[in-house]
Amino acid sequence: MYNDNPTLDFKIANKTIDESKQGEVFFQEKKVNEEDAKRFYIESYGCQMNFSDSEIVASILAETGYAPTRNMEESDLILINTCSIREKAEDTVRKRLRVFDKIKQERPGTLVGVLGCMAERLKKKFLEEEQLVDMVVGPDAYRDLPNLIAGADDGERGVNVLLSREETYADINPIRLQSNGVTAFISIMRGCDNMCSFCVVPFTRGRERSRDAYSVVAEATALYERGFREVTLLGQNVDSYKWSTPDDSESVNFAQLLERVALIHPDLRVRFSTSHPKDITDEVLHTMAKYENICKYIHLPVQSGNSRVLDLMNRTYDRDWYKERVEAIYRIIPDCAISSDVICGFCTETEEEHADTLSMIEFANYSMSYMFYYSERPGTLAARKYEDDIPLEVKKKRLNEVIRLQNQVSFKHNQADIGKTFKVLIEGDSKKSDQDFKGRNSQNKMLVFPKKEGLKVGDYCEVKVLDATSATLKGELI
Ligand code: SAH
Ligand code: SF4
Ligand code: F3S
Repeated sequence: MYNDNPTLDFKIANKTIDESKQGEVFFQEKKVNEEDAKRFYIESYGCQMNFSDSEIVASILAETGYAPTRNMEESDLILINTCSIREKAEDTVRKRLRVFDKIKQERPGTLVGVLGCMAERLKKKFLEEEQLVDMVVGPDAYRDLPNLIAGADDGERGVNVLLSREETYADINPIRLQSNGVTAFISIMRGCDNMCSFCVVPFTRGRERSRDAYSVVAEATALYERGFREVTLLGQNVDSYKWSTPDDSESVNFAQLLERVALIHPDLRVRFSTSHPKDITDEVLHTMAKYENICKYIHLPVQSGNSRVLDLMNRTYDRDWYKERVEAIYRIIPDCAISSDVICGFCTETEEEHADTLSMIEFANYSMSYMFYYSERPGTLAARKYEDDIPLEVKKKRLNEVIRLQNQVSFKHNQADIGKTFKVLIEGDSKKSDQDFKGRNSQNKMLVFPKKEGLKVGDYCEVKVLDATSATLKGELI
C-alpha cells in the first residue's frame, strides 16, 4: 500500500506511475475545454489513500475549470499531497517545495498548495515556515479548495485544516489520474481510531468513518463498466468498516461489503488494504475463500514480533494472537499470501525482542514486507511517553537484518511457485521490454511473460511460472 522503498524510504512516487495518461483520461471524463482551462500539477506522496485523495482533488478542481498537466512549468497551480508518516517523508516534501519556489520566482502568479497529512500536522505554522506557499489544506477540507484558490488569486494565503467526523467524499467521482485503465483504488473509509503509539495518522486524518456502502458498490460497478477489472478497497483499518443507513435499518460490515463488491461481476477482482490483526475476522476469511474474484492476499502488518514491544506500540494484540490469525488465514485460505509492515528499533527494543520480529517473518512466511526503522513523530503517544533511545546505527543494523531475512523468505516463497499456473490480469508492458506483458496473480505477485497476439491489457490469461527472483515471477502463457 505504501509507495516507499525500504532502503531509500520515500521515493518520488509519481515517478513510478504512468503519467502520460493523465490529461487524456481527464478530458474524456470531464470535457473541460482544453484551450480555456487553467492548469494544475499535482504530486502525491505516501500511502495509496493519498493517491486516492489526489483523484478526488482532481475532480473538485475540474468543477472549477482546472485541467491537469504533467508539466509543472506550464501550470497555474502546483499542488503537493504530502505524507508525515516518517521524518524522511517530510524532508522529501520540503525539498520539492524548494523546486516549486524556483518556478514561482520565474513565473509570478503561480500558486502553490500543500495538501494532505503534513498540511494537517503543521497547520498555520506551514505558512510561517514556507513563505512561498499560498494554501495549506488538510485531508477533510478539499471541498474548500475552489474558495482557497480564489482567495490566493487575490493575494490571500489560506489555511483549512478542519477535520470532519462525516466527510467521506462519497458523492465525488474521482478522476483516475495515473490510470492504466485496469486497476483502481476506492476509499471505503477515512481516518483512524487506533492509537498506535508510534503513528501520526490519527492526528493527520482524524476520526474513523465509513463510507456509504451503496456509493462504494456504485463506484466499483461504474469502474467495471468502463473496463476496469480490479478494485482495491482502501482504509487504514478496513476490518473495522461499519456503515448503517441513517435509520439503522440496514448495517454493513467489512465482510458484507467485500461480498457485495465481489458480486458485481466474477471478472472484477477485489483487493483490500490494510487489515489490522486485532480486527480481521473469520467471517472476512470465509468470504474471501467463497469468492474466486476476491484476491487471496492479505496485508497484515505485524510491526513487531515481540509482545512487550507490541504492548508499548499499543497495537492491542500480542505475538500469540498474531500467530493465531496467521494460522487461521492459512487454514481457511490455504493459497493465501500474507505481507507485512515492520518497524525496527522502536523505543527500548532489545536484541532478543528484535529476534522475535525475525522469527515472526519466518513463521508467517510473508511474501513481502515494507520495512522501516522507527522515526519519532512529534505529538504521538510514543514521543510523549517514551525515549527514542535506540541509536540510529542499531536501528539501521536491525533493519538490514530484517530486509535480508525478508528477501530470503520472499525468494523461497517465489521459488515455490515455479511449475505452478496462475490466472493473471494483464496490467501493461513489462518495465524491461515491450515484448513482454506484466500482470498480477491473485496473491498479488507480479508475473512477466512474453506477449501473444490477441491478448491485451485488461484480459485475464493463464501463466505457468518458469523462474523466480525475490521480486518477480517469470513465466509463459499456456
Ligand atoms: N494503518 C496501517 C498502517 C499505516 S502507516 C496499519 O495499521 O497497519 C504505514 C506503515 O508505516 C505502518 O504500518 C508502520 O509500519 C509504518 N510507520 C508508521 N509510523 C511509523 C514511524 N513513526 N516510524 C517508522 N515507521 C512507521
Ligand atoms: Fe496508524 Fe495504527 Fe491507525 Fe495504522 S492502525 S493508521 S498504524 S494508528
Ligand atoms: Fe498516508 Fe502518510 Fe498520511 S502514510 S495517511 S499519507 S501520514
